[in-house]
Amino acid sequence: MYGIVNKAVKGMVLENFGEATWEKIKQKSGVDIDVFLSNQPYDDALTYKLAIGASEVLEIPLSKVLSTLGEYWILRTGMENYGSLLESGGNSFREFLINLPNFHSRVMLMFPDLEPPEFKISNIQEKSLYVHYYSHRAGLADFVYGLFHGLAKMHKTEIEVELLESRDNGHDHEVFEVKW
Ligand code: HEM
Repeated sequence: MYGIVNKAVKGMVLENFGEATWEKIKQKSGVDIDVFLSNQPYDDALTYKLAIGASEVLEIPLSKVLSTLGEYWILRTGMENYGSLLESGGNSFREFLINLPNFHSRVMLMFPDLEPPEFKISNIQEKSLYVHYYSHRAGLADFVYGLFHGLAKMHKTEIEVELLESRDNGHDHEVFEVKW
């Protein structure tokens, strides 16, 4: 994944726990890189190692690390660096999700080697819809959960998210029901 993702992990840790904790996480993960270049692709394994290292050092579940990273990704990484892109995604939380399937095609203009996830939307109601998440990467459903919550905060909307189907229980992709 592009270095900007590892940079977000580092930023989230530094902001909440400080430099000493970040050093411990790097050590625990066996990752000896301190400066990540946003526009350079890194091995996915490195990002997973950092997230697992953070979970071990902070003694919090990996699911919590990933969901916190998802919120941070929208509210800090996204809003601070790509605010107008995020705002162009829709005028409300509902509209943003309906447009989500096209979102990473715009991101690809900036990150040409992106291997983006794929999203499909179904069961659209006034106050809920289903988001289908497809990725060749495993284990990131909690990151997606956090992304929804970041987007909801951005649009000042209260939401509930339920994971209806998952690759963990034999489905070929994740299905979330999102209500607001
Ligand atoms: C400013 C906004 C955004 C930017 C710049 C961005 C960019 C990126 C980048 C660079 C990656 C790493 C993938 C790679 O390097 O191959 C990524 C992955 C990902 N993005 Fe986005 N993204 C944005 C918003 C979103 C939103 C709004 C969602 C969904 C709600 C989302 C869902 C994901 C997921 C789930 C991944 C993990 C990769 C996977 O599942 O295979 N992103 N994105």
